[in-house]
Amino acid sequence: MTEPEHAPEIGPEAQVAALTAVALRALCAAISQRKMYPPEHPIASRALTSLALYLERILALTEEWRLALVGEKLMAGGRPVDERTESLAPFVESLKARAVETIAFKRGLDVAELRRFLSLMILDAKWFAGTSLQDMMGKEGIRSIEAGRLVLADPAEADRNRALHDETGPELTEAYDNALTFIEEAVGALQEGRRISMEDAESFVHLVVSQMQQDRSPFLILTTLKAHHAYTFTHIINVCLLTVVQIEAMGGDASALREFGLASMMHDIGKSLLPKEILSKPGKLTPEEFALIQRHPQDGVHILRETPGVPDLALLVAFEHHMRYNHSGYPRPRHPRPLHPCSLMTNLADTYDAMRSKRAYQEEFPPEKVAALISDRAGTDYHPRLAQAFLQIMGAYPPGTRVRLDTGEEGVVVRSNPANPYRPVLRMLRDSTGGLIKRLEIVDLMDKERVGGRFSRNVLCSIRPQGAAKPAAPPA
Ligand SMILES: [Fe+2]
Repeated sequence: MTEPEHAPEIGPEAQVAALTAVALRALCAAISQRKMYPPEHPIASRALTSLALYLERILALTEEWRLALVGEKLMAGGRPVDERTESLAPFVESLKARAVETIAFKRGLDVAELRRFLSLMILDAKWFAGTSLQDMMGKEGIRSIEAGRLVLADPAEADRNRALHDETGPELTEAYDNALTFIEEAVGALQEGRRISMEDAESFVHLVVSQMQQDRSPFLILTTLKAHHAYTFTHIINVCLLTVVQIEAMGGDASALREFGLASMMHDIGKSLLPKEILSKPGKLTPEEFALIQRHPQDGVHILRETPGVPDLALLVAFEHHMRYNHSGYPRPRHPRPLHPCSLMTNLADTYDAMRSKRAYQEEFPPEKVAALISDRAGTDYHPRLAQAFLQIMGAYPPGTRVRLDTGEEGVVVRSNPANPYRPVLRMLRDSTGGLIKRLEIVDLMDKERVGGRFSRNVLCSIRPQGAAKPAAPPA
């Protein structure tokens, strides 16, 4: 007698894989139907219910259903999706438009969250205005869906972040996060016609000043740890930090540091009145749109004038921060006069951080390239002495930058070297064979070999975050 044949048992992973194609089709259908019909329409509502049912079945088998975009290919659960590319194209395109590389649906997801998620997916990407899909979902109370950039498993990058967090400490990281919250609330208040309170801004600047006088490197590192926050808000805080660094290096006292810090923090407040679609427009601005952008210095002055407790310097910096050293910027003054040093420093900080940041219309520039550009424009766009001092502080590779050496080793900059901008102090991450360095090893690139007196190591280049494409041409 032969044994009866049993069908092989299908494991949860295989069941999820089997449901993936049909769930993806339901997802694409729900997005397209929602584009055509309001959520309460029976067709849109049926598509949503169908999607919710498939997701419920998948999430009963696994904690999360993760989709990832690798190049043009959509992956689900780490495997390429076996589905006709054209049927997924609208979904893939909407992910790309929002700079989303991975999205995960988590156990606990309910229909209401899914409905709000679909509403965000059909929203024209220009309304996001530099805010990530994750941030938008947070505001909508969507907790069971996560979206973001694909973080490839790179232990050295994880080590860089750990090393940098060691250098900055929890207190400063928390202060940075608090300042972000203040800026976010202030912009929200202005858009709703409410006044902003200066107290929170002052307490952040106060902390920055007292810590900065002890050690400026942790702040420079903080400006590189911004990947997970909305650009608009981190940029405002970074400009404040990079301005305070400059006045501190020029020998400013605590009250000057506080005054400059507060003024630079408020410099772009006039932009809160600009339409979001202009601020985040990926392409070239029309002359009309550019004219609107050019109004933000004057708008900033009007807003700050109405805000109690704002020092006069903040009004001046809001007005002057795009004029440029040679008055080639905007607004064009009728009677050109030397600009306030805080306006010039804020402009340097603004340009530097903007070029070092990834935007909808621009990849980030390597720091050595930004330094070269500022150096080229010293004496025209930028005050020559201030530009030189700024580059001395930042070095070609500012703290937080990951670099590759001519020995094949890799490290992260923890300190710039005022004597030589190309020779920072590093915390080593990988040895010459590519192996991870677990122990704390600090190397000063000013160190020379005992015999021959040559430098032991040289920087070959900075290492860009994984997946970053080539930057666009530098801004004019
Ligand atoms: Fe501005």
